[in-house]
Amino acid sequence: MPMTDQPTTARKDDRLWGGRFEREPDKKFDAFQRSFPFDRRLLPYEFAVDRAWAKALQKVGILTEVEVRDTLNGLQSIEDEITGDETFLQGSTAEDVHHFVESALVHELGGLGWKLHTGRSRNELVATDFRLFVMDASVVVQRQLAEFLSAILEQAKTNFGVPMAGMTHMQHAQPILLSHFLLAHAEAFSRDVTRLQHAGDSADACPMGSGALAGNSFQIDRNAVARDLGFSRITTNSLDAVSDRDFALEYLFALTGIAAHLSRLAEDFVIFASQEFGYVILPDEYSTGSSLMPQKKNPDVWELIRGKTGRVTSALLGLLTTLKGLPTGYQRDLQEDKEGLFAAHDQVTAMLAVATGAVATTKFNADRLRAAASNPVLFATDAADYLVHKGLPFRQAHDLIGKVLREAERQGKPWTQLSLEDLKKISPLFEQDFLAAPSVETSIATKAVPGGTAPEQVRSAIAELQKRITNWNTDLNNEPNAKLQSKTGEKP
Ligand code: ARG
Repeated sequence: MPMTDQPTTARKDDRLWGGRFEREPDKKFDAFQRSFPFDRRLLPYEFAVDRAWAKALQKVGILTEVEVRDTLNGLQSIEDEITGDETFLQGSTAEDVHHFVESALVHELGGLGWKLHTGRSRNELVATDFRLFVMDASVVVQRQLAEFLSAILEQAKTNFGVPMAGMTHMQHAQPILLSHFLLAHAEAFSRDVTRLQHAGDSADACPMGSGALAGNSFQIDRNAVARDLGFSRITTNSLDAVSDRDFALEYLFALTGIAAHLSRLAEDFVIFASQEFGYVILPDEYSTGSSLMPQKKNPDVWELIRGKTGRVTSALLGLLTTLKGLPTGYQRDLQEDKEGLFAAHDQVTAMLAVATGAVATTKFNADRLRAAASNPVLFATDAADYLVHKGLPFRQAHDLIGKVLREAERQGKPWTQLSLEDLKKISPLFEQDFLAAPSVETSIATKAVPGGTAPEQVRSAIAELQKRITNWNTDLNNEPNAKLQSKTGEKP
């Protein structure tokens, strides 16, 4: 173990701020204020920042080349020790992740370990570590979303051509393609990818060099530290840098969006799996049974996804509430930023993992879907459009078709089986072709505007989504932070 001058009072987990205090903190308060039990998750980032900082200190003459080498070796052996033995972490009484590494470094190196904190503050350290976490986390979830979207895309391709009854107010409205329905969900999740990218971009600014609030007096090369850590820029105001948690809010908002969209999909699938609908056949792998009723197969995967959304939303609201009314500068309240965000991140990654499997293995009941879509009442709007093509204002056409439907109801048959004679009594504009036209296929085919449900539009939407996913995957594979990701436990 390389040694410089042996510290006289060094012991593991020595407080970072003990000098002006006569007495130890109250035990309950100490436990209350510690963040190590949860911010130890930031350890890989803390090590990365420490390495970059040691090099920066060498450049300004605070550490010699040998001292930097010893510091880097010291950091490495602590990291190795942690990797080999989790109890090292569990047994620690460190106040936080910064205290933990400094104490361990002093234990390894003696007084040299204390030099690393030259010119820096935990206020900037925690902001830097947390930003790095959010940058990595955003990439992890983007990767998951790309995979999830691929599962949706596959279903859209496999079930191409299957019609379903599109609904508004949960009432049958107009026929659409099942693929169109699936791609609607894909659009929402695609926007979530964009939001995650934005959150990652917001986090991508390095606070190191901001000090506790005022900046750094050792002429530290902030840009070099930032580059070393994989940031693309530095924060622009030292006071803002230690106060700002907008990047965390943005990340939580992106996660909330994903959870909200997952819960909507979940609700659709729960309904579709009911006996009344019977649109989907739940995969055994993602369903559970009843302890009492042998026939039951319950959509628990979707119910739990729907249920867990509350936790994610509450993390966003929790942080917003913590930040409201805080004065400028670092406040200890900010320590409350981490647990909620970690928990929300964990929930969303778990939700996406099972949602991907459940979507991929769900079978659609094409017969039930088609049967519901084939009810002629769903073509009523197309019938009104027929009269519009004959020159009638839409409002009158709407009214006349209403009369047609009423007459059909009176006769107890679908309106498509009314005779031309009956129809002519309602309007002379009706001709033989009116009765020949209506079908699910024609109804769907007429919605040929871009973004509509006509097959050729849906086909190009499928191709577009495919391209989008491929581009994301290419970008994600080139992520500059991959170096850090490999050490975070946030498996890409
Ligand atoms: N554990 C603290 C946090 O998470 C680190 C920063 C502590 N700074 C301080 N001045 N007490 O926010």
